[in-house]
Amino acid sequence: MATKVLIFSPNGQEACRYGELLHAAIDDAEFTVASTAEEALPAIGEAEVLLGWKFPAGLLARAKALCWIHKVSAGVEDVVFDPDLPRSVHLTRSEGVAIAPRMIEYVLCAIYMTTQQFPRAMRQQQRKLWSSYFVDKAEGKIVGVAGVGDIGSVIARALAKNGMRVLGWRRSRTAGVAGIERIFVGHEELKPFVSACDFVVSVLPTTAETKGVFSTSVFAAMKSHAVFINVGRGASVDENALADAVTRGVIGGAVLDVFCEEPLPATSPLWGLQRVIITPHVSGPVVPEDVVGLFIDNFRRYRAGERLHREIDLQRGY
Ligand SMILES: NC(=O)c1ccc[n+]([C@@H]2O[C@H](COP(=O)([O-])OP(=O)(O)OC[C@H]3O[C@@H](n4cnc5c(N)ncnc54)[C@H](OP(=O)(O)O)[C@@H]3O)[C@@H](O)[C@H]2O)c1
Repeated sequence: MATKVLIFSPNGQEACRYGELLHAAIDDAEFTVASTAEEALPAIGEAEVLLGWKFPAGLLARAKALCWIHKVSAGVEDVVFDPDLPRSVHLTRSEGVAIAPRMIEYVLCAIYMTTQQFPRAMRQQQRKLWSSYFVDKAEGKIVGVAGVGDIGSVIARALAKNGMRVLGWRRSRTAGVAGIERIFVGHEELKPFVSACDFVVSVLPTTAETKGVFSTSVFAAMKSHAVFINVGRGASVDENALADAVTRGVIGGAVLDVFCEEPLPATSPLWGLQRVIITPHVSGPVVPEDVVGLFIDNFRRYRAGERLHREIDLQRGY
């Protein structure tokens, strides 16, 4: 019997693209494509598999036959923290390496914009001001990557390839990562880690443990010229503490792609800070063609009763 799969994305074109790609690759499934709650809610009751992201509120509460959810993004906190998530459901996610190439460019751009002082040049240009300044080198700078999983380890390798010295921070004491000189582990090593860095790049997921880890005392441990770059999740940052640290010159600045609340509210103090660059969660776009491969492989595994790849540990939260 064909497996009933519900595909959901709030972007109708994207939902259809997933439908086309999966139709072409899988013949033992019956697909329903939805991009609104009205379309998704009638189909979820019978769906055995749910693929997509940004699911409408209340969707999981109506899931009666659901065995497997595949999130097309790398972040899964919305599903993990959904009280209606049936705990017996398998939850998988896209491989970070399918999303990482664009994130490498974002992080390199953030670092080079800082060393080359491009924000200053842009401000001067608006005033038709010709005033020279010192241009630093990124080569040899110490960059700390917080979260050296799928995406962080790829970013770390790229930084090392571009002549930077790379440190890492993670939860577990496991094998080393190519390109990383030293890996710090756990909360007790977070301050020694950040204090050694010229740039701190966070690629952390949102979990119960990572919420608010970048706090007043962690920013205080950073070098006064250090720049904080966040492409992981906003929830790992105490944003008031960050705004305060930048305002008071405790750290050099920040480049932020992700926020506690998105869109970033107009009332956020971060908007008004000259040494903060804000982008609207664009560093790691999820492109259907890049990410369907893992689902297609996992679908065969699912049908064969084999272990799925990139399964989330619901206890750990990532
Ligand atoms: N901005 C964007 O557009 C965008 C795009 C894609 C992804 N993301 C974000 O990037 C995150 C990471 O993706 P990924 O594929 O690299 O995930 P991943 O492979 O699961 O890696 C997560 C990393 O975070 C570390 N970590 C987790 N909890 C920790 C803790 N309490 N203390 C210290 N380190 C901790 C893990 O440590 P261990 O290695 O010890 O397990 C691991 O190194 C996603 O969850 C998502 O939120 C953002």
